Amino acid sequence: MTESDFSEFHRIESRADRRTGLRAVFALHDLTLGPATGGVRRWRYASEDDAVVDAMRLARGMTRKNALAGLPFGGGKAVIMSDGAPVTKAQLRVFGRWIDELGGEYISAEDVGMRVEHMIEVRKETRFVTGIGDRGLGGHPGPKTARGVFRGIEVALGGSVRGARVAVQGLGAVGIALVELLSAAGARLVVSDLDADRIEAAERLGAERCALDDVLLGDVDVVAPCALGQILTPEVARGLKCRVVAGSANNQLASDEAGRILHERGIRYAPDYVINAGGIISAGYEYLGWSGAEVQIDAIGGRLDTIFRESAATGEPTHEIAERMALAVIDGARARRTAA
Ligand code: NAI
Repeated sequence: MTESDFSEFHRIESRADRRTGLRAVFALHDLTLGPATGGVRRWRYASEDDAVVDAMRLARGMTRKNALAGLPFGGGKAVIMSDGAPVTKAQLRVFGRWIDELGGEYISAEDVGMRVEHMIEVRKETRFVTGIGDRGLGGHPGPKTARGVFRGIEVALGGSVRGARVAVQGLGAVGIALVELLSAAGARLVVSDLDADRIEAAERLGAERCALDDVLLGDVDVVAPCALGQILTPEVARGLKCRVVAGSANNQLASDEAGRILHERGIRYAPDYVINAGGIISAGYEYLGWSGAEVQIDAIGGRLDTIFRESAATGEPTHEIAERMALAVIDGARARRTAA
């Protein structure tokens, strides 16, 4: 992130509450399509600068994700700077009040390090929270994200995952739900996580464990990154043995160069904000009171198919096509607004 990147943002705010020790960053990227919507991540950051950069990268991705998913939302993200201790109810209430003070410009949901129970506490202070599922719609976004990723993997493999070897990095809310879907559909799985209990849960579904450092570079058909971002460096992109990279993690590409290397090596990369939109589609529909999210989640497969076909026809890397498509949606909305 550079100085010029800041100018793209509607608002970036760091907040601290001395009484509860809560520290958070809000990054509201682009509100052309609607209020900035994206989950809150709770993570142990080395510095406030790291937290700001992460929030900015994630918020920018949300702008693109919401645009391509056809949602009436802009992109935003919040990060809570964890000190390693469990989050307290008092902290969650303060966080809720901060969201409320943004007056509806930011709508939150759960992301890494947060659970639905936490968001229920946050919502006691603000209505600008979704992904809770108490009105018969939506609910926990993790399994919805997994459903979209599963559809994407099917398409990337040409229709079926049966017999394919898939490496899943990260067995959290999305990863374990993805393992369930893949296992039921006859894929062969290798998995890794920092947490032994999560690995055991995947082993019970027939997965084989593998060392943390080996999961990306193994001899598999598909690598599904479902932990954190920035993992596809140029070096990793050159070392991959798979033919497809398709997972839920946000900001998988550490650089454009990594995306171009994947393309040149003939590895199909499913742009992260296209394939992982299931959770925000579900949470967004829940917020809007709309039904029919599943149909839109399953449509992720078709959207990826269009991108893969265009990439094959034009020779353009998939991440560049997705970026162009997302920006066209936003520019179109901006132009219509100016003309009105
Ligand atoms: P989570 O917090 O439930 O799980 C993340 C898992 O990754 C944890 O089990 C953690 O131990 C593991 N992990 C962390 N570093 C690892 C490493 N180096 N190697 C192996 N495992 C590692 O998070 P969740 O919700 O499952 O999200 C996973 C990814 O998908 C994140 O990048 C998130 O931003 C993204 N995502 C999640 C959505 C959702 O609906 N939850 C929606 C869209 C994207």
